[in-house]
Amino acid sequence: MDLYDVMRTTPAVREFTADPLPDETLRRILDNARFAPSGGNRQGTRVIVVRDPATRERLAELNKPGVRRYVAQIKAGQSPWNPLEAPAASEAEIEATEVPESFTKPVLTAAVVLVFVVDLGVVAALDQHLDRIGLISGASVYPLVWNTLLAARNEGFGGTITTMAVAQEPAVKELLGLPDQYAVAAVVPIGKPVRQLTKLRRVPVEELATRERFDGAPL
Ligand SMILES: Cc1cc2nc3c(=O)[nH]c(=O)nc-3n(C[C@H](O)[C@H](O)[C@H](O)COP(=O)(O)O)c2cc1C
Repeated sequence: MDLYDVMRTTPAVREFTADPLPDETLRRILDNARFAPSGGNRQGTRVIVVRDPATRERLAELNKPGVRRYVAQIKAGQSPWNPLEAPAASEAEIEATEVPESFTKPVLTAAVVLVFVVDLGVVAALDQHLDRIGLISGASVYPLVWNTLLAARNEGFGGTITTMAVAQEPAVKELLGLPDQYAVAAVVPIGKPVRQLTKLRRVPVEELATRERFDGAPL
């Protein structure tokens, strides 16, 4: 596929056919995705390739607490899991929130689930002394995650970056046998999409980019 076509038509895919994603194809996807950058080219990311149904069941289960807060906050009109604002919903309301199937089914039904983990011992975190949530270390892993989804699209597959299970990171680490200093960045179900969306809702360039300053003229 043309690069711009791939970039413009890679949606979050959550519904999959029963088609397999053979190791050979997965290897080709990762063999191209691995050229993503990382801070200082330290390449601290590892990808755990999960096919075992029992491990997927557990990952789906570990999504649930994160999803409950996510859904409860959306219902309360908030930006979910935002670090600047505490949940308006109470603990009891969050606990009682139902988990939509769309948050658990993808890891159960995808051809494969990739768990991206990163060695915190090699990430460069230039924002570590700032009085805000850390952002920069993620930039050493998410380019690879996104490259993987772009490559999957090029091979006729699709998936979604999911992060709900990361709220239960200690349990995910135990499940997958991760060494202490690794962090979980994303759980990515990948498979053959039931339908291929081609029109994604995104802000236009005029809203995305301004000249010289934040309040500058739109590009
Ligand atoms: C950092 C990040 C975390 C995300 N976490 C989840 C998630 O936990 N579960 C999920 O279903 N989708 C998750 N998504 C997918 C987004 O909801 C999706 O990319 C966005 O809504 C755009 O969807 P579209 O490409 O189909 O338009 C996440 C995406 C990103 C970039």
